[in-house]
This record gives sequence, C-alpha cells and structure tokens, in this order.
Amino acid sequence: MDIEQKLAQLNELREKARQGGGAKRIEAQHSKGKLTARERLDLLFDPGSFEEVNPFVTHRCTDFGMAEQKFPGDSVITGYGKVAGRLIFAFSQDFTVLGGSLSEVASNKICQVMDLAATTGAPFVAILDSGGARIQEGADSLKAYGEIFTRNTIYSGTIPQISVIVGPTAGGAVYSPAITDFVFMVRGVGQSYITGPNVVKTVTGEEISLEELGGAMVNATKSGNAHFAIDSEQECFQLVRKLLSFLPQNYRELPPDEDTSDDPNRTDEELLHIVPDSPAKPYDMKHIITRVVDNGDFLEVHHRFARNFIVGFARMGGQSAGILAQQPLYLAGVLDIDASDKASRFVRFCDCFNIPLVTFVDVPGYMPGTDQEFRGIIRHGAKLLFAYAEATVPKISIITRKAYGGAYVAMSSKGLRGDICYAWPTAEIAVMGPEGATNIVYRAEIAKSEKPEETRERLIQEYRDKFASPYIAAARGYIDDVIDPRETRPKVIKALEMLKNKKVTNPPKKHSNIPL
Ligand code: HXC
Repeated sequence: MDIEQKLAQLNELREKARQGGGAKRIEAQHSKGKLTARERLDLLFDPGSFEEVNPFVTHRCTDFGMAEQKFPGDSVITGYGKVAGRLIFAFSQDFTVLGGSLSEVASNKICQVMDLAATTGAPFVAILDSGGARIQEGADSLKAYGEIFTRNTIYSGTIPQISVIVGPTAGGAVYSPAITDFVFMVRGVGQSYITGPNVVKTVTGEEISLEELGGAMVNATKSGNAHFAIDSEQECFQLVRKLLSFLPQNYRELPPDEDTSDDPNRTDEELLHIVPDSPAKPYDMKHIITRVVDNGDFLEVHHRFARNFIVGFARMGGQSAGILAQQPLYLAGVLDIDASDKASRFVRFCDCFNIPLVTFVDVPGYMPGTDQEFRGIIRHGAKLLFAYAEATVPKISIITRKAYGGAYVAMSSKGLRGDICYAWPTAEIAVMGPEGATNIVYRAEIAKSEKPEETRERLIQEYRDKFASPYIAAARGYIDDVIDPRETRPKVIKALEMLKNKKVTNPPKKHSNIPL
C-alpha cells in the first residue's frame, strides 16, 4: 500500500468509527427524539474545536458472540475541545453501540480523558446515555465503573465536573453523576433511577412509569438529584456552556471576569419597595437579586428543589459570584433539611473554585416539627454552618428582613467568619421573632394580666420596637453597616473588589468531616 492507499484506509476506518452502531441505529436514536453522541458534542463545543481521542479502540470480549459485535471506538466518544475558547474535556456515550453500555475499554477511554482533565486543570463534562454495565462483560464492567467513581471523587474540588443525562442512567451508573458538581437532565429524554419500574413493582408493589420514577422533573423537584431539568437538548447544552462561563478552569484559578457594561455604581430606587412593611408578608427575593447583579442576569441552580432557598451564579462588577438567599415566597424562607443540603453543597462548590459568596438573608429560623426533627434537621442543618464556617472565599451578606436564631448564625454571619455583613434598615436581628420571644420572656406578666391578649400584643410591639432592628447587632459590630437598600449593588461590588486578594488558610488536616 502506498501512502495514498494508507490514507484512504485511515479515512475509511474513521468514517466507520463516526457511524457508531450504524445508520439504522442512528435513525432509531433520532426517532426517540434523541440526538446522537456526536451531535451532542457539536452542541457543547465551539464549532470545529473538538479533538477525538481513541476512535479505534474496540472491546476484547468474546463471550455471548461479542467477537462479531465490534465497533471502532466502542460505546463512547472521548476527547477535548473549546467552550468559549477555553479547554474542556468530555465524553459522550453512544447509545447506538450496544446501548451505550459501559465496557472495560469504554471505561478506559473515559478514565484517560478524566486524567487529562485533572492533570491539565480543565473542567470535565460527562454526557450520559447508557444501558449501564455491559452485561456480556460481567465483573469487568463493574470494576470499570469503580474506576470512574474513583476519579469523580479524587478530582472533586480540583476541576469542575458536570453531568448531562440524556438517556437512561440506571443502577450503580447513577452514582457517577451524583458525585459530580452539577447534573443536567433533559425532559422526556434523560432518566435516572436505581431500579426500574419492574423491579419497583416486584419489591414494593408500587406501579409507576419510568418518567414518574426517574425522569428529569422528578429528579429536579423531589429528590434533588438533578440541578437542571431542561426542555430540549439544544437548550441544555447552551446552559452547560453558560454555567461554565462562571467557573474557573480549576481550583488554582480565579473565575474569569467579564466586561458586563453594567455600571458598578448603579443605584436602584425600586429596592425600597420590595420588602413589605408587614414582617408576615411574603415577597419575591429574586426581584432583589436580579436588580442588584449585573444586567439582571442570574443563572439559578437547583431552582425546582427546596424552593425556600435560592442558589445560583451571577456577575457583580464583572466578577463571578455565587448568590445564596432565602425565598420568602416558599415556607416563609425557613431553613429545612432540603434547603440546608442544597445551600451547603453550593457553598462548598463555590469555595472549592474561588467563587465569592454573596448571601441575602431573610430567615425566620430552622423548620420546627417532628417530621424535620426525626429526619435529622440537626445533622442536615449543621452542614450549612459547617460549609459557611469552613469556606475561605470572600463572604458578603445582606440582611433584608428577618435574621433569627441559629438560622441567622448559619447565614454567613460574622461568627462564621463572614467578611462583610450589611443590613437594610428593615432588618430584624434577634434570637427569635417578637411573638416567640414575648411569649417566653413575658410569660408571667401575660398570665397575670386581666387582658392577656391585649397585654401580649402591647409587649410584642414593645419588643419589636426595641429589639427587632439591625442597630443592636450593629452596635456590637456584628453588622458592618446598615445600608440604604438602593445602594446595595455599589456596596457589594466595592466589598468584592476589596476582598479580591483575600487569603485565609484553614489548619492543616487530611480532610474535614462534614456532618452527612
Ligand atoms: C449490553 C445492552 C445493555 C447492557 C442495552 N443493551 N443495555 N447491551 N449491556 N447493559 C443493548 C440492547 O441489547 C440493544 O441491543 C441495544 O442496547 C439497545 O437496547 P434496547 O433495549 O433496544 O433499547 P431501549 O428499548 O431504548 O431500552 C433501553 C434500556 C434497556 C432501558 C436501557 O436496554 C435496558 O433495560 N437495558 C438493560 C439495563 C440494565 O439493567 N443495565 C444494568 C444496570 S445495573 P441490540 O443489538 O438489540 O440493538 C448496572 C450496574 C452498574 O449498570 C454498577 C455500577 C457499580
């Protein structure tokens, strides 16, 4: 063969690899409303930037007639490319090849790019569409999953890891995405469950559809396994790209600044009118967030889960920031188990990757009741204190209204090494709300009063006037300043600029032991 013939052979082999499981299976994939593994990579990466590695790898299994079922590249496409000009590694499981099932060699390919991502310090995106462990390979495939889980774990906190579920993810296979930092699922396409409907029916007698058991919506709303449930694959990959724009490449770097052209000194009159006069009335905290951040551009994360707590990314003066806040529209913004889990994991992600935390506080307390107590609000609530206290990134908070008790402490307070704590004049910082406090402190006085209800109301009002304000905390220095709400944006941006070179190191240790 001369070089021309050799090149022709190479092109032929490459074309075969590009065909995956062949035209019929590609058609079947499309007829299910799903994109192919390569089409997905095209949506993720900047045009023409993807470089594939290992397109000719084939499996070595000979049992079950597998010697005749070989496909160049096997069931996964791996490689690297650019997203908005920055290096990103990815794999995309190819359902057209043996249902995207994970073989030993598919895992080897995945592990190689994960290792490259870690050693070059670049984020990693996993695109999942797979029937799980390659049944014909048995224990080899199980060991192969272990290799991936280990890398997800040891690279956690060194490079951002994102999972995109656009097909089945079943059994133990669900644990790779669960370890990664963010999980995207596409509605009607992605499914994630430990056991499918048939096993559920056999074991518990419950009848449930695949979508109701493990679809995107249920994972985004009920279990919280998914951070995003998106309507289409196109939108999903756009959002992955947007999320990456807020993140640094690795734990050694700062997130990239961007010129957003929004005036850092912009004040906002409307901020005076969002918090209602009555402390019992709800309001939408997102109205405050979007008025304060650059251009109102707020990428909310996990927004269908634990809706009493808001987390997400935005820019302030061009600088990437993690935003956290209570949402008084849901459960009065109380801190419960799910909110604590959601918020703590977000704090820890931002801390891993040098993203400063901006926290808006309006919290009536931790959720009372047997349901929460018995399910472990103490253990789960402790995570939030732990996460904020441990975090060494810049921590800025703004108390808009209630900041009561342990929940006040948890929300980026000075006691937990908050750097700058601002309060609006509407803030109430106390051990508990005026009603609860009055009932305890004035119990005897109310009991012996001839008109107990009137006395209680009078004492509540007295307590509110005297203690339910930011000024006692400000007098102690627990609040750095009581600010005009209109000036929130310039104040926060100045604090972020001031803290940009903050350096704090926690005591040496193997690792901390967060309550789980
Ligand atoms: C080998 C598999 C496979 C698997 C699917 N295929 N799953 N091959 N190992 N795990 C093959 C099918 O035989 C078929 O091949 C092709 O992929 C497409 O599958 P279909 O069943 O036709 O597709 P669909 O109807 O869309 O159903 C998809 C599916 C189903 C729901 C994923 O295939 C299925 O239930 N598969 C088995 C899932 C499973 O139980 N996996 C093990 C989970 S436990 P042909 O040649 O006919 O096109 C696990 C342990 C991980 O993964 C442990 C980690 C610690």
